[in-house]
Amino acid sequence: MNELFERVKMLKKEKDAVILAHYYVDGDVQQVADYIGDSYYLSKVATTLSEKVILFAGVNFMADSAKVLNPNKKVILPDITADCPMAHMVTTAEIKKVRELYDDVAVVCYINSTLELKAESDVCVTSANAIKVVKALPNKNIFFIPDKNLAHFVAEHIPEKHFIYNEGFCPVHNYMAAKYVQDIKKQYPNIKVLAHPECPRLVLANADYIGSTSGIIEYAKASNDKQFLICTENGVSHKLKEDNPDKMFIFNDLSVCPDMKKITLQSVVNSLESLTPEVEVDENSRKKALKPLEKMLELAK
Ligand code: 13P
Ligand code: SF4
Repeated sequence: MNELFERVKMLKKEKDAVILAHYYVDGDVQQVADYIGDSYYLSKVATTLSEKVILFAGVNFMADSAKVLNPNKKVILPDITADCPMAHMVTTAEIKKVRELYDDVAVVCYINSTLELKAESDVCVTSANAIKVVKALPNKNIFFIPDKNLAHFVAEHIPEKHFIYNEGFCPVHNYMAAKYVQDIKKQYPNIKVLAHPECPRLVLANADYIGSTSGIIEYAKASNDKQFLICTENGVSHKLKEDNPDKMFIFNDLSVCPDMKKITLQSVVNSLESLTPEVEVDENSRKKALKPLEKMLELAK
């Protein structure tokens, strides 16, 4: 393992590469990253980099966004098959249909979506900035794609707007059950429940804090409580344990994103050595997808 860490360090220098990692990738991959964060943080960071090569340790909608924001850099994703199933859970035909049905509508696209969907949207959001961004929109009607759970969570905070929902979901979060949360609470009466807004509504109803991966990590660090049930993907355990050696965290063993876990330390080494697989985006789609991403970065400031 140490050999691989050293190899990554050397290759980063040799290839003028920077590594961005999401909190859901394995701990050893997070360890070699230059920047680790939630989707919002990583998209902001992607606008500030000076290196020639960006290696994205995450799934392909993240690497695509980095490429859209950095057309002149080489963006590599160690496993090009690392895909988010939710990113495909709506069609451009459905977007078109909603635009025909409603006059004053904004299509709000969770960043966990394909470039094709982003290109047809008015603004992107992440779980960390969705409420702020949607509040700032002048439109009365909001078509929120693809995630139904995040959409309902945002809608509850903005009752003055009319939401049109889509049926997409994250397979990792959507299968979390309220019964499981309630059982853990019975077992540990003082436990605090920290949940990602991709969880179903009934899980969120049992949560003490709802936020993005970074939000959950910050909350646990600042809290005086000692026991936490974490309702999100288990990759966040790496940072939670590092920051809080004296606190107890319970994770659901099933909360593992198989696509995020495709990025291994060995695949990072291979990818840096060969500078492949490279993320390619055609210029027309890039320009179209850039607009909603830039609008998000502007409104979320
Ligand atoms: P955040 O990093 O925005 O919390 O996103 C969660 C997620 O599912 C990324 O795939
Ligand atoms: Fe997609 Fe869910 Fe995996 Fe995030 S955790 S990449 S939303 S499948």
